[in-house]
Amino acid sequence: MLEGKPSRTAQGVAAARATMRRPCSPDGDPAGDERLSIELAKGVPSPHGLLYQYLVGRTRFFDGTTTDAIEDGITQVVVVAAGYDGRALRFRTSGVRFIELDHPATQKDKRALLTDLGIETADIGFAAADFTTDDVGAALDGAGHDPTSTTLFLVEGLSVYLEEGVLHGLLSTLHTRAAPDSELAIDLSLQPTTAARAAAKKVFDNRVASVGETARTRFSRDRALALLVASGWDPDEIVDPADLNRMARRGSALLVRAIAAARE
Ligand SMILES: C[S@@+](CC[C@H](N)C(=O)[O-])C[C@H]1O[C@@H](n2cnc3c(N)ncnc32)[C@H](O)[C@@H]1O
Repeated sequence: MLEGKPSRTAQGVAAARATMRRPCSPDGDPAGDERLSIELAKGVPSPHGLLYQYLVGRTRFFDGTTTDAIEDGITQVVVVAAGYDGRALRFRTSGVRFIELDHPATQKDKRALLTDLGIETADIGFAAADFTTDDVGAALDGAGHDPTSTTLFLVEGLSVYLEEGVLHGLLSTLHTRAAPDSELAIDLSLQPTTAARAAAKKVFDNRVASVGETARTRFSRDRALALLVASGWDPDEIVDPADLNRMARRGSALLVRAIAAARE
């Protein structure tokens, strides 16, 4: 990310979601989420082509994981690297506390935009941290996250931008805050195995580099799953984006729902 500037890729993802049909909770504010996305779509180009189709599949996965977890009685949802994700509005539910954790520059810009749009956020906790330097546990404490209650951690659209060691540290910290039955949902970009996929990844890398962001980490399937296990998360459901949107390219990423391993 450019020093002191909000994430442009986060703005692009939100703009793409402006055109998607999505679920919401009975008490949710999907209109607030849509206003946020539409406002961003006015200012930034929306991803298109295969990237858009990937985002459709990915969004379905994270929306479905959120609604399932709420139905199963989860009490907290931490939206990690939240960007301009509006799930805290869309899936607002009595008895479920949403906390957004993000880089300070992106979070500051999002909160200002929410205020400008008159969107109510008093029930949402906000925790700011740069994952490469800051104490994520302290940030979550400051936002009122309770490590003794069940949590769904959503880690969407982040892993490719972090060094593997930083991602491992972040996921391990989240695990220390995961009460029994807590869950993690995460997308992990896969190393290309064909020339066509390599070319598509190169286009993506160049596109994000042009807005000051760097694609750093891609995995083999085995290494991705091993990283989750090593940081305290047992994969329970592994989905290809093409399973959720047949227009998406198969084999570009893993969408994983994992369960917190028992803490020692
Ligand atoms: C592609 S956006 C995804 C946003 C959101 N999860 C979504 O899917 O709409 C990447 C997000 O990662 C965050 N991010 C990138 N590097 C970070 C870092 N070092 N520390 C904290 N957040 C970071 C950005 O602020 C941004 O919100």
